[in-house]
Amino acid sequence: MDKKQLLYEGRAKRVYATESPELLIAAYKDSRGSGAVPGRGAVNNRVSVCLMRMLGQQGIPTHFIDQLSERETLIRRARMIPLKVVVRNVAAGSLCTRLGLREGTRLRAAILEYYYRSAALGDPMINRYHAFELELCTPAELAVIDRYALRVNDILQPFLRGLGVDLIDFKLEFGRLADGTVVLADEITPDTCRLWDAETGEKLDRDRFRRDPGGAKDVSEAILRRMTGETSG
Ligand code: TMP
Repeated sequence: MDKKQLLYEGRAKRVYATESPELLIAAYKDSRGSGAVPGRGAVNNRVSVCLMRMLGQQGIPTHFIDQLSERETLIRRARMIPLKVVVRNVAAGSLCTRLGLREGTRLRAAILEYYYRSAALGDPMINRYHAFELELCTPAELAVIDRYALRVNDILQPFLRGLGVDLIDFKLEFGRLADGTVVLADEITPDTCRLWDAETGEKLDRDRFRRDPGGAKDVSEAILRRMTGETSG
């Protein structure tokens, strides 16, 4: 399967057409707006592939089809739903700022949040009523999204805990296939999660990247090693 024209370029990935209208190729970049780290794209591709494959095997429909190369993955074409869905287990980041919770406070139950993906508006946090008013998705689709997001959390939390990693929070995005089926899309990587060492509380993810851009690849590789027992070489 070869790459045809570039359809989309985001901060972390490029997405290309293929000879098949239903199939696309996602190519992960080393940069992420905040500076390039050699090898980061390959590591993120492999982390996302590993997690998407596992979620698919556990019954979550995803856009993932096959890893093509170090940094390229074949995916199903989906029309993206312009929502960022955040799931939180422990207070951190914007939740602490917004509600005054102490960082590290374990939440009584997982918290789901929605953000409207709109660069012009700065991706504001919204609730389900806003989503319906803006016709971002239907109530039936949002019910599916909620169910999948919480199920992803129920799968990833024990999986990562088994690797000595605490899943603090993460962001998911969803899309619709040609027939309207809602699937988990985009990526799940250390750039879209907060991951803390379960023993020491050390930050293993993007927060660490913000403080120490050069260390990010090492951190992703450490997570990948823990997940797959291998490195990106
Ligand atoms: P926040 O605390 O900054 O709202 O982020 C919550 C989680 O969601 C954190 O793991 C980072 C992730 N996230 C993204 O990956 N991209 C985004 O645009 C947002 C808003 C959050």
